[in-house]
Amino acid sequence: MKVWWKESVIYQIYPRSFCDSNDDGIGDIQGIISKLDYLKDLGIDIIWLSPVYQSPNVDNGYDISDYQAISKDFGTMDDFEMLLKEAHNRNIKIVMDLVVNHTSDEHQWFIESHQTQDNPYRDYYIWKEGKNGKEPNNWASVFSGSAWQYDETTDMYYLHLYSSKQPDLNWENEILREEIYKMMRWWLDKGIDGFRMDVINKISKVQTFEDVLPQSQQYMRPSKYVSNGPRIHEFLKEMNQKALSSYDVMTVGEITACSIEQAKQYTGDYENELNMLFQFEHMDVDLGEYGKWTPIPLNLVQLKKVLTKWQYGLADYGWNSLFWDNHDQPRAVSRFGNTEKYWADSAKMLATALHFLKGTPYIYQGEELGMTNYPFQSLDDCQDVEVFNAYKELVQEKKVLTHEQMMKGICANSRDNARTPMQWNNEENAGFTQGTPWMKINPNYKTINAKSQINNQDSIYSYFKKLIELRHQMPIIVYGKYTLLEEEHPDLYIYTREYQDKKLLIITNFSENEYDYALHEYSDGKLLISNHHIDIQKTIHIAPYGAYVIQK
Ligand code: NOJ
Repeated sequence: MKVWWKESVIYQIYPRSFCDSNDDGIGDIQGIISKLDYLKDLGIDIIWLSPVYQSPNVDNGYDISDYQAISKDFGTMDDFEMLLKEAHNRNIKIVMDLVVNHTSDEHQWFIESHQTQDNPYRDYYIWKEGKNGKEPNNWASVFSGSAWQYDETTDMYYLHLYSSKQPDLNWENEILREEIYKMMRWWLDKGIDGFRMDVINKISKVQTFEDVLPQSQQYMRPSKYVSNGPRIHEFLKEMNQKALSSYDVMTVGEITACSIEQAKQYTGDYENELNMLFQFEHMDVDLGEYGKWTPIPLNLVQLKKVLTKWQYGLADYGWNSLFWDNHDQPRAVSRFGNTEKYWADSAKMLATALHFLKGTPYIYQGEELGMTNYPFQSLDDCQDVEVFNAYKELVQEKKVLTHEQMMKGICANSRDNARTPMQWNNEENAGFTQGTPWMKINPNYKTINAKSQINNQDSIYSYFKKLIELRHQMPIIVYGKYTLLEEEHPDLYIYTREYQDKKLLIITNFSENEYDYALHEYSDGKLLISNHHIDIQKTIHIAPYGAYVIQK
């Protein structure tokens, strides 16, 4: 089915780090408004706004204490309405983050819920008795330690799959579900253009709340009991019918782990659940023994395998999101590219490899400038609750990693890498704020910044602009059939797209090695975009981190 959200390019804004208009060191809504022309020039269609709701900010807004209020850090509801209007005036849509697996423990529902066992809000959350003086079961929180928090007031535990200040909502409770749908309709009636749904496949849990077995560690990740649970499709269909179906909006579900079959059920055109899913399998290929904290070198064959599995899997039914960067991932150019010798080439190469795939592409703020990881020196440079909890568990309690090993992991993979302020220019604080930034600015802002790239035809920014333009012009990039070539090649990722009588050959080099590659039927094609100029001949020379798209 042909629809607008398949033909769009999405730009993710992490408001805290985008642009500060009032010099309190924190990005805000007026700051975003001031940069709408920049986004218009880049050519994106949709903004995904990470949470701007009222929040105590334990997890930077993913802990919401009021779904219908704007955080004071970011401005007011009037500011939000102005953003919506100004974006729409420029033909840019706004998609809001919807975080309904959990709230903040400072949400009024939770404040009520924890007071007495017969409080009307008690069943909005998941409360259990302890077992033998311990937690109800051995489930681990994503942010380390137990997923249960003891609450003295009623001598019971509540579930929190994330931080203890993010209690999980009880979706078994129909009254809670109705409240959520009502809140969604309230935002939709304001005119927003859709929702990105945070960890949405975790809202239905297996109700037995049994231990994860075999028990090899004190606390175990409970994925099989909390991901894609027994009522997930029922809840999403209900949400669709009661909140979404009467609006022309898009939805993207953050799905932490699922099979192709499940993905088709979530996003198939005739399922009436979600439009597309945002899954992470390709982000797992370089994780080591202690996950992201002990990364292993990229195995390109493995990365291609995962990307291809999803391309083939959702080729005819369902829809993929395409991304390298987001607010939970390190900067891709530092992770899969080469920031020393081939910074610009590798940033363009990664963009090429991604933007020609089938699905809706996402650009995370600063990715279009080739922003890189931050050189963290100590924990004082960090802000993320995930880092602090993991450090405590792995370095201080279990002592499985040394401080140096953990710092290496933080530099490579912590979420804070993505959260340093946007680099607008080479002036003080990179033009992000006139105050003291809430998070340190990457010292490389003097060379990597928007101002130096906007009017430079050779810049990473201009390259992204061209990629977006091509997607808008050429249905083959949106709807064409994907085929992987050179499956076992250790350095080159090569694939084709085909649509009606058109064909594209996409060649990307994930290494410093150089190759000659025979173009065969493409040798009389035309170079559509590349990060190095080449003449199309029978055999082309592929430069380090080279990227070439040939049209036939
Ligand atoms: C996924 C979000 O992307 C992440 O930033 C957050 O910490 C968790 N969900 C919990 O909301």
